[in-house]
Amino acid sequence: MIVKTILEHVKNQFESDTTGHDWFHIERVYKIACHLHTKEGGDLEIIQLSALLHDISDHKMNGGKLNDGGNVALQLLIQNGYNEEKAIIVANIVDGVSFKGALVKDQQISIEGKIVQDADRLDALGAMGIARAFTYGGSKNRPIYEPAVLPELHDDFKKYATAKSHTINHFYEKLLLLKDRLHTKTAQVIGLKRHQLMEEFLEQFYDEWNLTNLD
Ligand code: ADP
Ligand code: NI
Repeated sequence: MIVKTILEHVKNQFESDTTGHDWFHIERVYKIACHLHTKEGGDLEIIQLSALLHDISDHKMNGGKLNDGGNVALQLLIQNGYNEEKAIIVANIVDGVSFKGALVKDQQISIEGKIVQDADRLDALGAMGIARAFTYGGSKNRPIYEPAVLPELHDDFKKYATAKSHTINHFYEKLLLLKDRLHTKTAQVIGLKRHQLMEEFLEQFYDEWNLTNLD
């Protein structure tokens, strides 16, 4: 019941998003997380709620507030009559989900947290990852590519969250690093295939940018 209530709430809130964090992203993360649960275990209800709420107040869409999602998730769950102890578990997972910089360590300790973070990361990889990256970049007025602006590996969440580089840099600052930051075996297998597609995409992108291989 609580899962259905939260699902409807999140669906309403995210239906009109145009930054690559639309309801379909949340729904895919939810479904991937449920799939990972069948292979990796964990508490299904905690996984489902955390997946649905993982982007509920993300710094990329809430005007730059960091670490706000857990609090919003907690309030929402308690307002809907959910057990407080479990709501705190979900809130902690939500706070730990986001990528916070290439050199910032991940904090997910529980299997439920690892599964939700893996599911979110898989949706940042592959064809979907490429589509979402350029959609997000466009929504924030970022150029596709500026060859003179090199990627930076951030050691601090705030620096990462306020950086404004072109979208090709996002591949080096986050997306290509994700395959080695997936926790579960099941996600690692799926992630590797998606990673390889992004490598091929970048190779062809540079060929077309540099007008090599025209014959
Ligand atoms: P996370 O919380 O780990 O960032 P999200 O689901 O909130 O995961 O969104 C991540 C997606 O947002 C990225 O995978 C990418 O598609 C997009 N994104 C975030 N930052 C950038 C950026 N600087 N340039 C391009 N896309 C970005
Ligand atoms: Ni997400």
